[in-house]
Amino acid sequence: MLEVQICVGSSCHLKGAYQVVQIFKEMVKTYDLEDRIHLKASFCQKNCAKGVTVKIGDKLISRVSPENAREIFRRELLKEGEF
Ligand code: FES
Repeated sequence: MLEVQICVGSSCHLKGAYQVVQIFKEMVKTYDLEDRIHLKASFCQKNCAKGVTVKIGDKLISRVSPENAREIFRRELLKEGEF
């Protein structure tokens, strides 16, 4: 199970973390990945200037937004060799 943590700290919240969570949830469902990806909200990841911050396994991804969330999900989670 791959853990995906979306920061919902106050700075990331202001940059659209809630929408990012909703988009990621929707995509996990669409691609039928509920038993492979564990989505979690997290507290501040100390990367506020570059929020919204998403941590996929050990990899920190900065500047996620409601606008690019789908593209990032596809790039990081549906890339070849992954799911
Ligand atoms: S609030 Fe998200 S990194 Fe600090």
